[in-house]
Amino acid sequence: MTVVALVGTQWGDEGKGKITDVLASKADVVARYQGGNNAGHTVVVGDDTYKLHLIPSGILYGGTTCLIGNGVVVDPKVLCEEIEYLHRAGISTANLFVSERAHVIMPYHRVLDQLEEAQRTLKIGTTGRGIGPAYVDKFMRMGVRMLDLKSQESLEKAIDQVLPMKNQVLQKVYDHPGFTRDELVKEYLVYAETIRPLLADTSLVIHQARQEGKGVLLEGAQGTLLDVDHGTYPFVTSSNPTAGGAAPGVGLGPNHIDQVIGVVKAYTTRVGEGPFVSELKDATGDLIRQRGREYGTTTGRPRRCGWFDAVMVRYSVRVNGLTGLALTLLDVLDALEDIQVCVAYEYRGERLEHFPSDLDVLKECKPIYETLPGWQGDTTEVKGFEDLPAQAKAYLAFLEEQVGCPIQIVSVGPRRDQTMLLNPIF
Ligand code: GDP
Ligand code: IMO
Ligand code: MG
Repeated sequence: MTVVALVGTQWGDEGKGKITDVLASKADVVARYQGGNNAGHTVVVGDDTYKLHLIPSGILYGGTTCLIGNGVVVDPKVLCEEIEYLHRAGISTANLFVSERAHVIMPYHRVLDQLEEAQRTLKIGTTGRGIGPAYVDKFMRMGVRMLDLKSQESLEKAIDQVLPMKNQVLQKVYDHPGFTRDELVKEYLVYAETIRPLLADTSLVIHQARQEGKGVLLEGAQGTLLDVDHGTYPFVTSSNPTAGGAAPGVGLGPNHIDQVIGVVKAYTTRVGEGPFVSELKDATGDLIRQRGREYGTTTGRPRRCGWFDAVMVRYSVRVNGLTGLALTLLDVLDALEDIQVCVAYEYRGERLEHFPSDLDVLKECKPIYETLPGWQGDTTEVKGFEDLPAQAKAYLAFLEEQVGCPIQIVSVGPRRDQTMLLNPIF
């Protein structure tokens, strides 16, 4: 019986989908606990590439139970499309269940997300999927929940509670026509047909799995530095992707989580706005973007690229209580002569070892680098850690020492067989 939480340690897109898929071969249950379809998780199986936004990345194994937990905000349109997409690819969703308590993304959330972003002087660069506005309604206690999709009557009642307020804002602030209750009910009842059979008390499903001694994997979305509490606020998402968000996001106790694995890139990327101390706006940054195919899975935007930031990952180790790291995209660095690692920040002549809370400080921080020799060799077909080039092993040992956490998995390509498990997790 093991419950493992898998979290992003940087600004998202660390390869959580790939690592979840690899670990799902051993887990019985895989559950998402926060975020929504702002996430884009890529899984490569043989010649096929799957891009998942809502459904857990364990779905590609027939026997794995996949849960969308109560902490996720679910866009039913996207969920129905994703189920259809998987069915077209011959993947069964018979073991997929959605928490009755999860909140629903409504069309007005998407519209407000885009209108609010356009209005902001300080752009966040949101994905425009309605994530923030849906969480606002949840915490304002006026959200529509999956439970409300159970009948026309309950859906009408839930929409009536909130729509007049949304329409006032849309019409008076943004000069938008707003929505009618009937159009929303009509559209959402169609989704309800597909979704109703999937609704479950997913907390109970997880508890029963634990009691039966099964392995449970909690798949985080986004990353630690996008966490609404611990990230680079306000350039963050509206949930807690950190490990602390996992327990309430699926209805487990915090003491039920046995291991917390942080997925970390061998370098750093970020999509959207906000400070990025080790960013490379030069040919090396372009080379990393090109070799790592660093374009957003959800929005297609080019990702900003930079060197590994040990200050940031050290912070992630602390705020998540990481027990191990899964290091991905090592192969992207194969071509480089020298590799730099940001080991501390310089702020107005002072050396900072800890990630600052104040963005005004972070904006002024300059990276203090240590330079390591590259290995300039192909790692993509290396199967065992011992067979990695000596400089690559030295690079990994240096990162472990810098961030204070052992590396348990090394990934050298998007495929399942391009993964080295140094320590069994399940
Ligand atoms: P996620 O959001 O954390 O699941 O990550 P994304 O799927 O958005 O982005 C990670 C990208 O890197 C995907 O295209 C993966 O297929 C790819 N990927 C994952 N691990 C590796 C790796 O070790 N090497 C390479 N070259 N690509 C990888
Ligand atoms: P995965 O799970 C990378 C970023 C957006 C924006 C900010 C807020 O694939 O790692 P939101 O739409 O959530 O309100 O946008 O967060 N963002 C991500 N960046 N990977 C993600 O997910 C992200 N989800 C949100 O780009 O800067
Ligand atoms: Mg992604």
